[in-house]
Amino acid sequence: MPVRSQPHSSWAEVYDLAYEQSFGEFYRQLTEATVKVITDRFKPPARVVDFGAGTGRLSIPLADMGFNVTAIEPCEEMLNQLRQKKQQGMLLNDICSTMQDYQGKIEFDMALCVFTVLLYLRDEDSLEKAVKAAYASLKPGGMLLIDIPNKSLFQSYSRKDHRIERTVSVTEQTDDIFIYTEDLKVTQPNGDESSYSDTFPIRYWPAQTVRHLLEKAGFVQDADLSHDFSGAGAYYWLMSKR
Ligand SMILES: C[S@@+](CC[C@H](N)C(=O)[O-])C[C@H]1O[C@@H](n2cnc3c(N)ncnc32)[C@H](O)[C@@H]1O
Repeated sequence: MPVRSQPHSSWAEVYDLAYEQSFGEFYRQLTEATVKVITDRFKPPARVVDFGAGTGRLSIPLADMGFNVTAIEPCEEMLNQLRQKKQQGMLLNDICSTMQDYQGKIEFDMALCVFTVLLYLRDEDSLEKAVKAAYASLKPGGMLLIDIPNKSLFQSYSRKDHRIERTVSVTEQTDDIFIYTEDLKVTQPNGDESSYSDTFPIRYWPAQTVRHLLEKAGFVQDADLSHDFSGAGAYYWLMSKR
């Protein structure tokens, strides 16, 4: 069966560098604030499922603190980066799957779906399935932290410093569908240069659509944490499973 290329496959090895260099201190603070939402509510070894875990920005520090983490990520190359950061003794399981296709037997205390994971879902059926999968993954009383990016995030930008030269172009197609194109040049400390490119569709989801599907799945809002994440350009909602 042919392997379908996923968004991020071609530049997973430099994803961390590209994001760290692009977003700097804000990126580190965002990670700290997100981890704090979990540590304020649960103590290790509570079970956390990280949907769209990427290279482990959240999964790794949580596993390092002793949380029992399951990282769900559809891009094998991103998951490989996460696996390389796994240390002995960490309770860190990884599964290559989309959020909407995930089915598991473990019941989690906390689910994460953050940092634009929703944008990769391009039809309402997938969004609904993803929200239902998050609900099904939780114990009664379990919580979901989800971000819903504002339309203002759908913008082109470029960054240039001694390590990266990056152009992200975001162009609207139709019906809230945008085409994301990444062009990235990385300079290694020894002077070697490598170039990467990627292009894939993304979708803007109005907050009311996401809220409707969350409530339909059975979630109730525990807190609107958007204020704590000001600057992220997204709503951050903490939802609980009744
Ligand atoms: C911008 S990254 C964010 C990674 C991580 N959540 C974080 O906070 O750093 C978005 C991730 O979502 C993943 N993704 C794409 N489609 C997905 C889907 N249908 N279900 C779950 N994750 C998906 C991408 O492969 C990518 O790793």
